[in-house]
Amino acid sequence: MAGKKPRSVFFCTECGGESPVWAGKCPHCGSWNTMVEEVVERSASSTTSRELSRVEAVSVVDVDTEKGERLSTGIGEFDRVLGGGAFKGSVVLIGGQPGIGKSTLMIQAAMNMAASGLKVLYATGEESPGQVADRARRVGKPVQDLMLLPTADLAVVEKKVKAGKFQVLIVDSIQTLNTDQLSSAAGSVSQVRQCASSLVNLAKPTGLTVFVIGHVTKDGSIAGPKVLEHLVDAVVSFEGDSFHQFRLLRAVKNRFGSTSELGVFEMKEKGLKEVVDASGYFLQRDGGLGAGSAVAAIMEGTRAFLVEIQALTSTTNYGFPQRRATGFDGGRLAMLLAVLERRCGIELGNQDVYVNVAGGFDIADPGADMAVCLAVASSRLERPLKNDTALSGEVGLGGEIRPVAGMDRRLAESGNLGFTNLACACEKNENTGASFRFSTLSAAISGLLVAKGEEWLS
Ligand code: TYD
Ligand code: MG
Repeated sequence: MAGKKPRSVFFCTECGGESPVWAGKCPHCGSWNTMVEEVVERSASSTTSRELSRVEAVSVVDVDTEKGERLSTGIGEFDRVLGGGAFKGSVVLIGGQPGIGKSTLMIQAAMNMAASGLKVLYATGEESPGQVADRARRVGKPVQDLMLLPTADLAVVEKKVKAGKFQVLIVDSIQTLNTDQLSSAAGSVSQVRQCASSLVNLAKPTGLTVFVIGHVTKDGSIAGPKVLEHLVDAVVSFEGDSFHQFRLLRAVKNRFGSTSELGVFEMKEKGLKEVVDASGYFLQRDGGLGAGSAVAAIMEGTRAFLVEIQALTSTTNYGFPQRRATGFDGGRLAMLLAVLERRCGIELGNQDVYVNVAGGFDIADPGADMAVCLAVASSRLERPLKNDTALSGEVGLGGEIRPVAGMDRRLAESGNLGFTNLACACEKNENTGASFRFSTLSAAISGLLVAKGEEWLS
């Protein structure tokens, strides 16, 4: 017999779930067409038998809490997203699309950390040391204690970290890192998971802080952050779009802090700059929004976003009035316009109505209803909305405003971006912390639109 046949199993690229046979639908998360074959070869010695002899169960009262120290990246926004710096001995994953600026962020953080006296190792499997050094010179002043290691081999990284007594390790990127324990290619689900768990095992006992860069594409097709999320201590995602200079850093998971923090950066000629006045920058509201604009605090999955909704109404010149929505459901817009007309007395029968969600967002959250209605009313009545006010609420057919889920996150996000007021539905027995509460759309319109010529003072 010519050697042992390699064993293969199937992994889900969405959730990382494992299955011995191929399936069209992942048995773990239910996604379709996500199972990929991976060759796995496990070493002969089984860990379970070794672990059994060593590990003892201890009572929770007898265990000391980990009073870990935090380590500053020297970048205020980054530290804030991590909950006040990275925990020593933890593994932080920085996920994002290629070209978004992950390497730039990490080289800036690496130089800051090295300058503060830490020994930092930057393992780069993706770029040559020359390219990394070039970037380092571009964004700051390189320091002696920042060492570059051009390798994609996990074993080399582990050896160097131990030998050099490094305190911080940066891996750029997890998709290029590989271990020869597995025969599958670098970047495959099993390689990515194996390397990540080895890094976790390296970090925990020695107090080494590890930052791992992981690429994700829009459709999540590269094995990366999704399969790693449960292995690492914190996952921060770096987002933005190629048409704008701003970049958003958010915590997706954080074992040692909250996930509602948001960091805002701007990509400049000389690297990433923190944007302190995020709201002013982000929504361009010099002197407040004009008539026809409203800001909605919406939820996308478990995260809150603020988006600007613009509406334009103009008298129909001939034929049937036009109703167009970009980034918002057209059928829902028609319903909201009928509510505005019938319940709030806003005449729209002879009006063309255009609604646009700025920034290319596609809103599915009914919590944006209130902002859409107020933007339309604001345009029709030519009265702008009160300053610094974000809106969250679903509008019902009776013209009532209904509460939506995730108010605490919407509120936190509004605050983060400088919106001091959040208007939402009345809730009987709950203090949401929102500034304005309305039970009907008509009350919201009269309460939130500024009368012509009147300045609203907060
Ligand atoms: P990079 O950090 O290489 O992205 P990633 O590691 O996420 O793939 O950054 C890529 C982009 O950032 C690149 O298109 C050029 C731009 N950039 C700047 O605009 N200014 C800079 O100072 C640097 C270093 C990069
Ligand atoms: Mg890179």
